[in-house]
Amino acid sequence: MTASSDQPTPMTFTAAPPLAGVITVPGDKSISHRALMLSALAVGESRIEGLLEGEDVLATAAAMRAMGAAIQRDDDGIWHVHGVGVGGLLQPPTALDMGNSGTSTRLLMGLIASHAITVTFTGDASLSKRPMARVTDPLSRMGASFAASPGERLPLTMRGLCPAIPLDYRLPVASAQVKSAILLAGLNAPGVTRIVEPIPTRDHSERMLKGFGAELDVEIESDGTRIITLRGEVELQPLSIMVPGDPSSAAFPMVAALLVPGSRVTITNVGLNATRAGLIELLRAMGGDILIENPREVGGEPVGDLIVSASSLKGIEPDSALAPSMIDEYPVAFIAAALAEGRSVFRGLEELRVKESDRIATMAEGLRAIGVAVEELEDGIVIEGSGGKPLTGGGPIATRLDHRIAMSFAIAGLISANGVTIDDMRPVATSFPGFTALLRALGAPA
Ligand code: S3P
Repeated sequence: MTASSDQPTPMTFTAAPPLAGVITVPGDKSISHRALMLSALAVGESRIEGLLEGEDVLATAAAMRAMGAAIQRDDDGIWHVHGVGVGGLLQPPTALDMGNSGTSTRLLMGLIASHAITVTFTGDASLSKRPMARVTDPLSRMGASFAASPGERLPLTMRGLCPAIPLDYRLPVASAQVKSAILLAGLNAPGVTRIVEPIPTRDHSERMLKGFGAELDVEIESDGTRIITLRGEVELQPLSIMVPGDPSSAAFPMVAALLVPGSRVTITNVGLNATRAGLIELLRAMGGDILIENPREVGGEPVGDLIVSASSLKGIEPDSALAPSMIDEYPVAFIAAALAEGRSVFRGLEELRVKESDRIATMAEGLRAIGVAVEELEDGIVIEGSGGKPLTGGGPIATRLDHRIAMSFAIAGLISANGVTIDDMRPVATSFPGFTALLRALGAPA
């Protein structure tokens, strides 16, 4: 599988013997993006170890370079970043190509909103369908102006304002990307930017901003609402960052180990931030045997080793309050539900319709194609589990430029009678380089 191929790369995944071994997964995508962006704003040299070298993060690195940061990877895989200082981003000479990466796009829009520069964003067919109004609305209130394609989509050109207007904003959608975009804009706005977050989302931006020396406070009200305040125009100090393994990538071998009978797999150094750990809670509630060993803190983030043993899972109707803490893990959770005993009902997931693909529709279509009875709902899906009986299999599954759809159906293939064919594995390179090799290392015939 090569990321650079211009032709689709189909692949078939077939029934696996018991999976066994000790593995690590690549670095956390969300933390990697933020590490590059904040290092690029600090004064001096930051050092990043364990950076995810997937296409999405490389798009962020290229954008930060185009706006003036010096970014280099040494022979030991450590990334060194010399920042330009808060407010020091330069006009990039050409449009920024964001590829498939919504996180790069939305967070960078925030950074640019408080600089007096004009930037054009382009992206692939998937990214060009994704809604941007959720960030352009608050950033417009801070003074940025936008000329977007119809429906407030990419390609889009924006002009930032300096000095920007600090914002007091209640998040209308539970989105860490929107929260982070406003915080990044606030870094170079005079005064205090305040965000009210009624439903908590991943808090990597807040943790890392504090690590870099930003003046940021988080207050939690009795109903769980978080109030985040950030004082702008404060210099950031360089940092040495260790990026933990991505729990959203660990999700795939984790579900595979639960589903392939007789398996026992250890995944070391996985990020276990509570705002990301919903899948573990869900799988345990379904009867999954997942142990956490060596819990520790690395670079301001909780981390641990997961020991996952094959388990008989039961269907579930999870509370939609879990959604923000496992938003990217639903596709593979649906595969777990397809092998569980009984029916699972997932609701309150309308956000899945605006991810790299419409993940409710794409999963429903793919699950039907491999012999699973499903009912698609406006805000979720009902899945009839096989009770551990291998799925029929089939395909090719249409992955619609969505890495997590490709990897989810690859896992389904490991517990199938006839194998599952994925129409195109190239999107996997956005977040999980080495995915297929890692399954092979565990004994899968991939
Ligand atoms: C991310 C936030 C989530 C998630 C995405 C990464 C981030 O998106 O789905 O993969 O790094 O902030 P939303 O903010 O749209 O929920």
